[in-house]
Amino acid sequence: MTVRPENLYLDLIKKTLAFTLWPEPPIPLDTFNYSRPYLKRWLVSSISYILKRKGLQLVKQREFTTDEREEGRIWPGYAYTMIGLKRLDNLQSCIETVLRENVQGDLIETGVWRGGACILMRAVLAAYGIEDRKVYVADSFEGLPKPDPEKFPADKGDKHYIHKFLAVSQDEVEENFRKFGLLDDQVVFLKGWFKDTLPNAPIGTLAVLRLDGDMYSSTMDALKNLYPKLSKGGFCIIDDYGLKGCKQAVDDYRAENAIAAEMKIVDWTGRYWRKA
Ligand SMILES: C[S@@+](CC[C@H](N)C(=O)[O-])C[C@H]1O[C@@H](n2cnc3c(N)ncnc32)[C@H](O)[C@@H]1O
Repeated sequence: MTVRPENLYLDLIKKTLAFTLWPEPPIPLDTFNYSRPYLKRWLVSSISYILKRKGLQLVKQREFTTDEREEGRIWPGYAYTMIGLKRLDNLQSCIETVLRENVQGDLIETGVWRGGACILMRAVLAAYGIEDRKVYVADSFEGLPKPDPEKFPADKGDKHYIHKFLAVSQDEVEENFRKFGLLDDQVVFLKGWFKDTLPNAPIGTLAVLRLDGDMYSSTMDALKNLYPKLSKGGFCIIDDYGLKGCKQAVDDYRAENAIAAEMKIVDWTGRYWRKA
């Protein structure tokens, strides 16, 4: 069997981005401190502070199965993406298909966290020597918005916005691209809330639209502003169909726009379809 160099490179990139080459290391105990009750939070930050001055750190062992990690069911401590290997494979395969079939347009992910899926997008373009397509990296770079239940009732009670763990700065994401040698002018950052950045984003046509904004509002803002720009034969990938709000937004948008293309299953939460 001949193993092609681009496949070896992309395989290594995916496993590295998902951190599956190594066991999940313990995580500093103060990482999720924001979600603890006041007294516990105070105790953890005080002990962490004292230990830090002695060059020590309080950590928590995290026991996850290989399946949980590979299927992207956890919030990983060190991976650059939380979407798992099946959804990374699906992303690669969608991009390879549009390249092979010459479906016009750029690639975008809305909701990038540490940037791993977008790094894979740029890596696929690099592996095939593609210089005339861009990767758009859209995020607030400060986590998720507070729900607006008047406008989007499906988001009522959504608590994603409290998670500082999901707020990763643009500097950090740029640095992650740089570490892979993949930060260049084919990578375009769209910083801000989707409702503000996407309506006037400098995007022409898209060949791959990947949505990973978790909430109803974030999914609907991305679909309304970007789906019309997706080429025929382009791929719409949904990361969060396993989340109630996102699923509702996708179902509503497909119904309102009479989208009949079959939605295919990637894994427990990933779905995609091809624009007809
Ligand atoms: C689950 S994470 C994305 C995971 C990422 N795709 C990966 O590969 O691991 C969700 C991201 O969406 C962003 N986000 C969600 N809703 C948003 C909105 N309305 N505007 C801007 N950013 C948003 C958050 O800041 C966060 O980075």
